[in-house]
Amino acid sequence: MRDPALIKAMFSGVSEKVGSRNAMTTKRPAPATWLGATNNITQQFLAAGGRPDVVSLAGGLPAAELYPIAEIEQATKRALERHGSAALEYGAVEGFPPLRALIAERFSAETGGRFTASNVLLTSGSMQALDLIGKVLIDPGDLIVAQAPTYLGALDAWRPRRPSYEPLDWNKPDVALMAKAKFVYSVPNYSNPTGVLVPEARRVALLDAVAKAGTWLVEDDPYLTMQLDGPPPPSILSAAARRGGRPYDGPVIYLGTVSKSLVPGLRVGWTLAEPDMIQKLVLAKQATDLSGSMFAQAVAFELLDRKVDVVHSAGIVPAYRERRDALCSEAARHLSDWFEWEVPPGGMFVWMRSKGNAIDTDELYRFAMEEKVAFVPSSVFDFTGKDRHAMRVNFTRSAPETIREGVRRLGRAIEAYVSSRPQLARR
Ligand SMILES: Cc1ncc(COP(=O)(O)O)c(C=O)c1O
Repeated sequence: MRDPALIKAMFSGVSEKVGSRNAMTTKRPAPATWLGATNNITQQFLAAGGRPDVVSLAGGLPAAELYPIAEIEQATKRALERHGSAALEYGAVEGFPPLRALIAERFSAETGGRFTASNVLLTSGSMQALDLIGKVLIDPGDLIVAQAPTYLGALDAWRPRRPSYEPLDWNKPDVALMAKAKFVYSVPNYSNPTGVLVPEARRVALLDAVAKAGTWLVEDDPYLTMQLDGPPPPSILSAAARRGGRPYDGPVIYLGTVSKSLVPGLRVGWTLAEPDMIQKLVLAKQATDLSGSMFAQAVAFELLDRKVDVVHSAGIVPAYRERRDALCSEAARHLSDWFEWEVPPGGMFVWMRSKGNAIDTDELYRFAMEEKVAFVPSSVFDFTGKDRHAMRVNFTRSAPETIREGVRRLGRAIEAYVSSRPQLARR
């Protein structure tokens, strides 16, 4: 979905061409060239999601009514009582020291590796870590080997650096290709957008290939706790950590976050990497925001210290499982003539592919807006922009009945799309 006119038509009233404001009235310097290659789709999906008349199956948001508000209130009080002004100042660029130490302890215990605070950087969500990795590693034209389809936010974060991309083949990682890459980008747990869970043997094979290629491996793991059908295999980080290094000195740069295990509004994430890489990321972070919010990090510390994230995320899994099942069973009724999918074992999304590539999901979006339902078309997750035959459908944000209604609307949108194309209607 790269065509601004099409985007505008889809979101009449909410869309604007990026960088074009004032262009007609005032002559001012042109924005940097990368802005011409980007789009404001994320903002638009958030806007569509906020419209009360639209059932949004688009965003990647948790269920707001399940947020642990009372626990966060208590943690905020404790953070101020225990940490006082330390929680209210500019802090270390690396992050709030007690939380860094806690993350290092947790990952050492969970992986059997040896992490110290020198391996940990706290960021404003894992999104900031993606941005910092781009700043530290990518010069224009540099290669990223990325799991495809690719998380839209990662593509957004790296676009200003103007990288080139090749797809990651999990079945047969290409060492020669990786040797040319600055890093490999992967989301092995319930990927965004596909919900795919990568088996252990493939994780280990990728780590071996990355080690041979002598490059970095970014393991982006926001959905770890969204385990709907049992626990996932160990992280690639844990395999790397067990291979040596005290403190950890492996090629995996691991990104975690409280956004799905607690709430996205805290904007607290962590990066685990070998100490020199952490220092480089710290240099980039210093120029980005001086320091993260010590307040948010102190609150996150109080929550993680009492394992509120672990208890909370286990508690919400049944609700998410029910929503996934509601989506998939209703979709089987209304969408299966035209789309196919696998039931994801976790995460937040079902990836629906048009059978025989019959339906162009950029085009379908127009019809979906008419029916007042939103999804995310596949083109925005494709670094070439060419895949227009799948869609990402979210099941976490809305209650089961709303999800079912959204699917029925999607079914009507498909009917309208198909009848507008006689060659399909005859199929
Ligand atoms: C794969 C992936 N990485 C990173 C993020 C960013 O998460 P946050 O910045 O909220 O930690 C998301 C958000 O949905 C995601 O899906």
